[in-house]
Amino acid sequence: MSSFDPELYRADFPILSREIDGKPLTYLDNGATSQKPQCVIDATSRFYANENANIHRGVHYLSRTATEHYEAARTSIKSALRTPETHELIFVRGATEGINLITNGLAEELSAGDEIVLTIMEHHANIVPWQILAQKLDLKLHFIGLTEEGALDLDAWKAAFNERTRVASFTHISNVLGTINPVAEMVAFARSKGATTVVDGAQALPHGPVDLSSFEPDFYVFSGHKVFGPDGIGVLVGNRDRLNGFVPYQSGGDMIDRVAVSGTTFREVPERFEAGTPNISGAIALAEAFAYMEKIDWKAAAIHERSLAEHAVEELKKLGDIQVFGTTPDKTAIVSFLYDVAHPHDVSTILDTEGVAVRDGHHCAQPLMDYLKVPATVRASFAFYNTHADVEAFAKGMQKVQRFFG
Ligand SMILES: Cc1ncc(COP(=O)(O)O)c(C=O)c1O
Repeated sequence: MSSFDPELYRADFPILSREIDGKPLTYLDNGATSQKPQCVIDATSRFYANENANIHRGVHYLSRTATEHYEAARTSIKSALRTPETHELIFVRGATEGINLITNGLAEELSAGDEIVLTIMEHHANIVPWQILAQKLDLKLHFIGLTEEGALDLDAWKAAFNERTRVASFTHISNVLGTINPVAEMVAFARSKGATTVVDGAQALPHGPVDLSSFEPDFYVFSGHKVFGPDGIGVLVGNRDRLNGFVPYQSGGDMIDRVAVSGTTFREVPERFEAGTPNISGAIALAEAFAYMEKIDWKAAAIHERSLAEHAVEELKKLGDIQVFGTTPDKTAIVSFLYDVAHPHDVSTILDTEGVAVRDGHHCAQPLMDYLKVPATVRASFAFYNTHADVEAFAKGMQKVQRFFG
């Protein structure tokens, strides 16, 4: 067992002490969204109770205060991510919007016959925007496969680059397999081939800090709701010059320099990409979530999370007829599996009767499901606040599934 004690943190998350139909909640759907500590909830209500005003436009006290706190949130999150000097942080709705913003901007830079390297383990958010772009511009997309253990086939990935490759977009961590991609090596390789790099960090930040200065991707995106912050807020960190070269993704108030009937000039980043009233309370509460995460010993938490996943796999194996997807040692605490005797939907429905929340389905990764030749999996995804008692509740629920179907 690790020296990390999740009990020190669980009381910070009010929802973790609630019951579902008289059973304690066992929340193992962290890959879909994380739970929120009281300080994040408080930051949201504090904003609306004391500071609510629109930003950037008012001289009055509340507007100045809201503006100050919104910009302070940007500064503190930038600092937590060790954002390179050359990059800027833009608040977006989430990872999905961040990637759409990038594909929209790149539309002006790419032309027919250009190639984009993706991986087969991507979330739909990092597939569909590229497909739409490819259709519009007649680009070629490469989807790179995996090893037996569910790691990216790095040799095949490198071999996919050629003189027409303009972009490599890949997830930092797979939301289905938990596989951690060697992003620093991948960014350096893609850069050496002259390709723009886009990294989807949605599943990485919930498991510890990311130091963007150590590998400097052109673009990095993630969602606030997966990192113990609110939903409807996310982050795109991108190279400032590249972003200033993009045509604005959305237009309207706040992103303009000067509007005249004859035409408009735009501001530079970050305002260039924050048209209209942003999610002010969301940004402030996300900064609070980052402040909270700074108190956690992530090295110990990673060992703890891994021990939870290993414990879950051991329990599953006791049932027999279990297939686990994603067995590479370089992975986070995500356990995707199939129990041959029961459909994934039946498994999660029975687990739910025990208060155990897991996810079943394609996990917004249908190309990966096709590649693995399965229609769906059950996914138990852990966070630092989960406990071995949670794993035991999960195992008990699985024994109930076995009694029903086994
Ligand atoms: C790897 C990955 N990328 C992107 C997303 C999309 O995130 P959002 O729906 O918050 O935009 C998710 C959500 O599950 C994800 O797991």
